[in-house]
Amino acid sequence: MHVWSLPARVEAADRLAPLLGVLRPEELERRARFVPPAKRFEFAVGKLLTRWVLSRYGGGAPSSWRFSSGAAGKPVVPGQPFRFNLSHTAGQLALVVAREIEVGVDVETIEPRDPELARRFFARPEVELLESAPGAVRPLLFTIIWTLKEAWIKACGGGLSIPLDSFSVADGLVRVAASGVGVPTAGPGPGPWSDPRYGPRPATVRSLLAEESPCAAVWWPTGFGHVLAAVALGQLPVAWIHRGVELTGMLHSIQQLESERRSPGL
Ligand SMILES: CC(C)(COP(=O)(O)OP(=O)(O)OC[C@H]1O[C@@H](n2cnc3c(N)ncnc32)[C@H](O)[C@@H]1OP(=O)(O)O)[C@@H](O)C(=O)NCCC(=O)NCCS
Repeated sequence: MHVWSLPARVEAADRLAPLLGVLRPEELERRARFVPPAKRFEFAVGKLLTRWVLSRYGGGAPSSWRFSSGAAGKPVVPGQPFRFNLSHTAGQLALVVAREIEVGVDVETIEPRDPELARRFFARPEVELLESAPGAVRPLLFTIIWTLKEAWIKACGGGLSIPLDSFSVADGLVRVAASGVGVPTAGPGPGPWSDPRYGPRPATVRSLLAEESPCAAVWWPTGFGHVLAAVALGQLPVAWIHRGVELTGMLHSIQQLESERRSPGL
């Protein structure tokens, strides 16, 4: 599974305008329905990122991809071996891609949350872990649990039909809960992705209903005040490769791929 991440600030919105033609009419319609400029921007960047990354694996111009909806609305590319999933939150996008294995991704901002949310949505082992952790670690731990749960649900594709308390990600997070040592603190900053401290850390997803949930999961703090989690539904060996993308470079590359498509062959 390959994980692509893209920090994206809305100040760069003007640079998207020449590339909006890459999107399908229905995508442009959805984009237009978002009122806050930041949401419009995030949505369009997400669609461009998806198309650009798929073109890097499958070839062709970013505008050539056609999507349909799987169960509960999960976007799929019919007739292709690629599975992908997208997540966006303020200032950060993430996309995961795999061949033949269903995948899910989630990215969320690290911030203090109402403990009631955990009691309402998390499984009992997760609530116990969170409540046993030192106060300073809780916002990070909450976000790790939240993103892993979302990534699992998104990999399964069933949306909220999967009860959030029917599975737990607590098993692999005991060390984080104990101290948070070695975990970068939240907050803005460059957060070098190459720093091994920011590398993916394995996690486990345990179904509380069945014996086991065959999957591979990782999480890591982006260094930009977010946590990113990715899940692949398979016991096959999974190569976790992270690729950080820079917005200007991506837009330039899309422009090039599109103009190659339009140029007549020699
Ligand atoms: C829609 C949902 C799949 C994810 O929503 P989200 O976390 O708000 O948004 P994300 O940015 O992570 O993901 C959105 C993307 O997921 C994809 N997606 C849509 N439906 C999907 C589904 N059923 N399964 C997987 N991916 C889906 C789309 O690409 C979508 O992007 P788009 O809107 O630009 O087309 C759904 O799981 C949800 O509503 N979750 C919220 C559940 C919750 O309250 N959790 C409590 C804490 S654990």
